[in-house]
Amino acid sequence: MEVMRQLAVLLTVVVVITTITTISEGAIPTNTLKKVLMVNNKGPFLGLVVPNSFEMNPLLQSSQFVQSKELPYLDFGGRRFRFGKVGEQKVIIVMTGLSMLNAGITTQLLLALFDVKGVVHFGIAGNANSDLQIGDVTIPKRWAHTGLWNWQRYGDGPNDELAFESSGDYTRKIGYLNFSDFDINKNKNFGNYLNSVWYQPEEVFPVSGVPEVRKHAFWVSVDQHYFALSKKLEGMNLTRCVNSTTCLKRSPVVKRVEGGCSASIFIDNAAYSQFLRSKFNVTPVDMETAAVALICLEQEVPFIAIRALSDLAGRGSSKSNEASIFGSLAAQNAVSVVTKFISLLA
Ligand SMILES: *[C@@H]1O[C@H](CO)[C@@H](O)[C@H](O)[C@H]1NC(C)=O
Ligand SMILES: *[C@@H]1O[C@H](CO)[C@@H](O)[C@H](O)[C@H]1NC(C)=O
Ligand SMILES: *[C@@H]1O[C@H](CO)[C@@H](O)[C@H](O)[C@H]1NC(C)=O
Repeated sequence: MEVMRQLAVLLTVVVVITTITTISEGAIPTNTLKKVLMVNNKGPFLGLVVPNSFEMNPLLQSSQFVQSKELPYLDFGGRRFRFGKVGEQKVIIVMTGLSMLNAGITTQLLLALFDVKGVVHFGIAGNANSDLQIGDVTIPKRWAHTGLWNWQRYGDGPNDELAFESSGDYTRKIGYLNFSDFDINKNKNFGNYLNSVWYQPEEVFPVSGVPEVRKHAFWVSVDQHYFALSKKLEGMNLTRCVNSTTCLKRSPVVKRVEGGCSASIFIDNAAYSQFLRSKFNVTPVDMETAAVALICLEQEVPFIAIRALSDLAGRGSSKSNEASIFGSLAAQNAVSVVTKFISLLA
């Protein structure tokens, strides 16, 4: 029947149109894509990546940050990308949320969507270095993810191959933590069923490499030019007091240091932060920077991280974690150093 035939044609047309629309939109809505293109016409930008609002707000509230009037922000993938300027530099500010997964995803989104010429990551961190104090702002030369382990079976020792070591998936090159070294009563060393965990490098897939052909990275160096430039930040004046009565013992300093490390672990434990210090010579310990560093390594985008020390990662008094008193001062100091660093890029 003619009516049925016409209905069939109409249905086919509807199906085809729906399919085309779906295909052309992909997962990024056309409206968002248009805005992304509009933003990128004004690029390149400096990406400012920060873990949480506590650390981001001092920047948003700073007179140094001028948000774009045309398009203040764009939301995508559960993240808000804010556009504006810090001094003369065009910036995109994005908050990642806690820990490695969020930090990695957010940095990848930032670099996939936008024309970004470099990434400055900042925030607060635990301090594993007894030469520095709370409130000091650190700029490490390199970062490692210290949360990827091969957990060795009880009974095996340093001369035993790890599971899947022979296939190149794991290595004994970086070293290990042996749980029996942390027994309270050292005289009764019967060993420990937890045995040892061996630190592993990350598998990385740089954009200029062959897809699916892995490389490995444990330490990720920050950009050489950025690091050289950051020398000029040493000697900056930073805030010393929370209020009229609560002050740090001395004025905080900006210090370039050897290394920092990150893992999806909040460290409020002296034995472990001292271990990280002696094994890896790290100063700031946090939960995001190495993820940002690894994404920037893979995407081949210059990167640096500025982390203010807000607590002693468990080395302080047994009663409290100092972050509750000095956290806001540390967050403010990190932002002061970041904005100064951005002005040096001009
Ligand atoms: C870890 O300590 C146990 C004793 O608890 C020892 O048997 C083992 O060989 C040690 N492992 C390494 C990797 O040093
Ligand atoms: C830091 O502050 C002191 C005293 O307020 C001042 O004398 C000094 O010049 C300042 N240094 C810098 C680098 O701004
Ligand atoms: C200053 O800050 C400390 C720590 O937060 C607090 O205990 C104290 O009451 C504050 N003092 C004043 C005068 O606000």
